[in-house]
Amino acid sequence: MIELTINGKRQSVDVAPDTPLLWVLRDSLGMTGTKYGCGMALCGACTVHLDGDAIRSCSTPVSAASGKKITTIEGLSADGSHKLQQAWVAEQVPQCGYCQSGQIMQAAALLSKTPKPSDAEIDAAMAGNVCRCGTYQRIRAAIHRAAEA
Ligand code: FES
Ligand code: FES
Repeated sequence: MIELTINGKRQSVDVAPDTPLLWVLRDSLGMTGTKYGCGMALCGACTVHLDGDAIRSCSTPVSAASGKKITTIEGLSADGSHKLQQAWVAEQVPQCGYCQSGQIMQAAALLSKTPKPSDAEIDAAMAGNVCRCGTYQRIRAAIHRAAEA
């Protein structure tokens, strides 16, 4: 059994240590807010936080997350009240929506370390999160809005 702390709750999962964290979240625990895109750490759809840092859960073995604090999109706020979630709604960021939980988690990690990021800092931090719908301008606007909130 592997012990995990996800969104403040302790969980035990019976999986092989090299199972990707993404599969544990989605398949073992039914937490489907975190998405599968490429499975190769290339798109950012699977982004969650590990001790506050944005990581790609598709390419992180669950054993590497044991003993650390995991936060997923479900844990960002209980009721959608996180300033980034509100900014995302205000700026009407999503198109298809598939990439957006990863985008928000990446942005949350950015704001926790850089509360008022410049355009260049936003672009650098978000460069690994791909949006096939091309919502990049609205993502940037929403991060600025959240930073001002
Ligand atoms: S699914 Fe993890 S980076 Fe694409
Ligand atoms: S909103 Fe469709 S992939 Fe980003």
